[in-house]
Amino acid sequence: MENEEKKEISRRDFMKITIGAIGGLIGLGFGIPAIAYVVSPALGKSQAQQWIQLGATSKIELGKPTLFKVTITRQTGWIVNQEELAVYVLSEDGRDYVAMSNVCTHLGCRIRWIAGQDQYVCPCHNGIFDKQGNVVSGPPPRPLDRYETKVENDQLFILGG
Ligand code: FES
Repeated sequence: MENEEKKEISRRDFMKITIGAIGGLIGLGFGIPAIAYVVSPALGKSQAQQWIQLGATSKIELGKPTLFKVTITRQTGWIVNQEELAVYVLSEDGRDYVAMSNVCTHLGCRIRWIAGQDQYVCPCHNGIFDKQGNVVSGPPPRPLDRYETKVENDQLFILGG
């Protein structure tokens, strides 16, 4: 009789432990993604800069800005976005490369290289940049943003993200 009572108590304890463990697992199932969601954007900032392959250096005509377009994937928290990056690359000697963003430094419109004028033109407020990306006229407050570059196996890379 006493043994049966002990068995009954141990079954209750077992049920309590089992229910507690299941509750704990459910809590972890919701808790870990929630913590990762809060923490990952902060971690993502340290991983933001990466080498992005633009393409073959042989595409670049000396002395003329060449437009490269690549699609990059960005992740912020749980959100993954595909984004097109357009970069003008200029080289005068085939050894040194200047890679410039095509985003106007005024309000972010896309600039275009106009070969006949030897200038980049921003269609939004008529901002004008020279071949090196310096402001010639209009409202842009600073030159075009530049990327760090490297060449590996005749492929041009920029540091960005
Ligand atoms: S956005 Fe380019 S000049 Fe205003």
